[in-house]
Amino acid sequence: MKACRTKLSPRWTTLRAFLVAASAVLLLGGCNTEQSMFNPAGPAASQINILWWVMFVIAAVVFLIVLGLLLLALFRPRERTTPGLETRVGPETSASSRAATTFVVVSGAVIPAVILIGLFVFVLGIMSALAQPPEQTPLTIDIVGHQFWWEVRYPDHNVLTANEIHIPVGQSVRFNVTSNDVIHSLWIPELNGKIDLIPGQQNTLWVQADKAGEYRGQCAEFCGVQHAKMALLVVAQPVEEFNEWVAIQAQPAAPAVDGLRLQGQQIFLGSACVYCHTIRGTNATSTLGPDLTHLASRRTIGAGILPNTRGYLAGWIIDAQSIKPGNKMPPMYLSSEALDALLFYLESLQ
Ligand code: CUA
Repeated sequence: MKACRTKLSPRWTTLRAFLVAASAVLLLGGCNTEQSMFNPAGPAASQINILWWVMFVIAAVVFLIVLGLLLLALFRPRERTTPGLETRVGPETSASSRAATTFVVVSGAVIPAVILIGLFVFVLGIMSALAQPPEQTPLTIDIVGHQFWWEVRYPDHNVLTANEIHIPVGQSVRFNVTSNDVIHSLWIPELNGKIDLIPGQQNTLWVQADKAGEYRGQCAEFCGVQHAKMALLVVAQPVEEFNEWVAIQAQPAAPAVDGLRLQGQQIFLGSACVYCHTIRGTNATSTLGPDLTHLASRRTIGAGILPNTRGYLAGWIIDAQSIKPGNKMPPMYLSSEALDALLFYLESLQ
């Protein structure tokens, strides 16, 4: 017995380790409240959350019933048959066999059919509610996926930005999405489900946030080496605040007049920066990379992966490849004085 237990122990250890790890993952998942579909902040996400819980509860109940039946079959006492003794076939046996057949048909076909058809109708109802455009004329935002960042346009307001989408609270907003290169997928779990960004095709997603705040989103379709670092922020603001933001974003960059700022702008315009970026109001008009006209007003850099602070911005400019290998930003070779002036200029782009 002792030898047997010793022999089995590695398997038990593995099982125990697996269970501990699985519980830890579940617990950690429960703790993380950021970017979770379990914290719906708008009507679409609430519907999806309800759908998830309904499906989870039904699946859990079915699983427990099946498990119970399995255990019953395994452990119920069996009739002992004596070899050579003929089985008696009589009215009792045929009645119990009929009951068994009825049980198999009802529990194996009728109940699953009722559950699946019920769920199907429920899902159709939610899908149609999610696809329903609201009656009032909405704010439209065009989003274009790039490897590995998000271009964001407000066509009615002449605004172009990147990786940060501002929306007014309590209003349904239309996202028209497409891609510039490969297929990406936009997913802001607290606001709605996923929508694919497909080259040459426009898809639509309706988004509404019921409370002000920042909602992190993520690319949800493998699109290349930096797919995992293709994030974004949705900032939901009270209407007046949003209108103020839009008005500022629509302006070109303030002209550089003073010493260090002017020096920084000259470094920007005289280096490789201009081959990829636009700063409206200057001669930099390339659209390969994100528009930088109001770079300093954004909360993050590198598509949602780093806080927009002087130190991170300096690191990104000097060697973006070590932070996000495979992105299109080349390393920049600048003296510390030049970098200082360039940072001063970029940080003035509010
Ligand atoms: Cu873009 Cu994954």
